Amino acid sequence: MAAIQPLKINGNKCVFFLLVVLYHYRLMDLQGERSVIDNHDTEAIVNRRATITLPPDKSSFAFDCNNIGEIELVKPMGKGVTKETYLGKYKGEEYAVQFVTKDVISVKDCVGNLKSWEVAAGHARTCTALPLMKIMKGILIAMQLNHPNLIRLVGFCAKGETVESEDSDNLSTKSGVVAVYEYAEKLTIQNIELLDWEQRLAIAIDMSDMLQYLEESRLGSILALEFGEKHVLMGKDNRIRLIDFDDFDGAERSCDRPKHKLFKCNCENGVCKGHNAKSNMFRFQRSFADALLDEPVLDSSRKEKILKKTRRLLRKYNITATVLKQRLTALL
Ligand SMILES: Nc1ncnc2c1ncn2[C@@H]1O[C@H](COP(=O)(O)OP(=O)(O)OP(=O)(O)O)[C@@H](O)[C@H]1O
Ligand SMILES: [Mg+2]
Repeated sequence: MAAIQPLKINGNKCVFFLLVVLYHYRLMDLQGERSVIDNHDTEAIVNRRATITLPPDKSSFAFDCNNIGEIELVKPMGKGVTKETYLGKYKGEEYAVQFVTKDVISVKDCVGNLKSWEVAAGHARTCTALPLMKIMKGILIAMQLNHPNLIRLVGFCAKGETVESEDSDNLSTKSGVVAVYEYAEKLTIQNIELLDWEQRLAIAIDMSDMLQYLEESRLGSILALEFGEKHVLMGKDNRIRLIDFDDFDGAERSCDRPKHKLFKCNCENGVCKGHNAKSNMFRFQRSFADALLDEPVLDSSRKEKILKKTRRLLRKYNITATVLKQRLTALL
């Protein structure tokens, strides 16, 4: 009896054979799937849709695209590089309402640099892309940070990429992005100087607490590029509010910048660690130290001593927000 010869297949033939088998089965599989879909098409889709949990249609904010149009725009409060801010009113409450218009500096400059054929071809649209991104960045940052001295976002409506609108006074027809923040009063250096020393010390403590929060934030140690008089307001609860987060930067500077542009810092993996916190402290001290502490109205030597100490602390080069807060709080 002839011995049964084992099937002799070399390596390449084997792989080819396997591929043919797999292809054959996949073909059968696809035909099966198709027939299932053909037979139960609509039923399957409807059933699947029913199992998807839809997000709640109302956000946790006071305003969204459904009711933003109910805010009445009272008057413009400021126009900057990328956005305009209006005083808004809703049910007697005041709000700061922000959106991009064709009149903000960056859009005007950008459109002005376009050639007439580019304008005719609708390229002006590209000029609003950056401002819209910035206003959305402000919204996203506000949503991720939570501190009593940072202005609170109370709603927004993000609809599209253009800033045209049929009725410029009606927020519900704005086609770009609208952000609504709580309203706060202007706080000038002169106003600060009218406050008594306890109020000034309270402001200094609030600011140092906020600086510490920014340094330790979930977004990294944040650089608040515009931390100065124009961006610090007074909230309705008589506590300061920092506004305008669209220039916040959660990345530390790289060490290869010119030395004079960097604060003394430790270079780690090419990054200047601690730069952002020091830069914020520098801005705070430069803008507010004098207003908070110079020429105080004093009525006792104890207060005189406290102010002297506070003044020294606020001018201390290289102090951290944490230490500043501790020392200021101890003076209270
Ligand atoms: N929450 C607020 N409450 C009261 N007033 C506000 C508020 N936010 C902004 N403002 C007013 O609007 C002005 C302009 O707002 P903001 O500083 O946010 O924009 P900007 O820096 O001028 O613009 P950009 O960032 O586009 O250059 C502020 O100086 C302030 O007077
Ligand atoms: Mg700004």
